[in-house]
Amino acid sequence: MNLEKYELAGDELEIVKYPDPVLSKKASEVTDFGPGLQKLVKDMLFTMYHAPGIGLAAPQVGQSLRLFVLDVEYDREEMTNSRGEDDWKLSNFNPKVFINPVLTGNSGTTTYEEGCLSVPGVYEEVKRYQAVHVKYQNLKGEFEEMEADDMLSICIQHENDHLEGIVFIERLSNLKKNFYKKKMAKEKAAR
Ligand code: NI
Repeated sequence: MNLEKYELAGDELEIVKYPDPVLSKKASEVTDFGPGLQKLVKDMLFTMYHAPGIGLAAPQVGQSLRLFVLDVEYDREEMTNSRGEDDWKLSNFNPKVFINPVLTGNSGTTTYEEGCLSVPGVYEEVKRYQAVHVKYQNLKGEFEEMEADDMLSICIQHENDHLEGIVFIERLSNLKKNFYKKKMAKEKAAR
């Protein structure tokens, strides 16, 4: 993977797959902003870019903590690496980190075909708010807030759901939800 201009390189973490119990658990508040948290965030960003995905919540790497990372802006280009393998060339990184986020307002509705690194191969339309207001802490523990719309808003809502123990397939119709739950349980049994 070509990580030029990406200074936050870390270790790749294993992404937990649905229906692992950690994905259904309400995550705990982050209280320790020490080196362990800095390392976790770096590794989560590295893992997200490596996947490649646009968002990753701590429960997805087995850490039941209220935190997620996302980047809805970076460019991905398929390429062949020096070993002749298919790879991605990534550029224009704009990583964002949300610690102890709280959605404090919303407006409008939108639907988008969502996917999730913990639910590989499933893409379904989910109804979300078009815009949200989010309060959160940054890596230093300072309080910040922002107004997000479109992709950023959708991604924040998807990742925030992970902190509540909700995977996006839970937001589908009962028919689809049950279909995917059975399919994922079977796949897990086969692993
Ligand atoms: Ni997800």
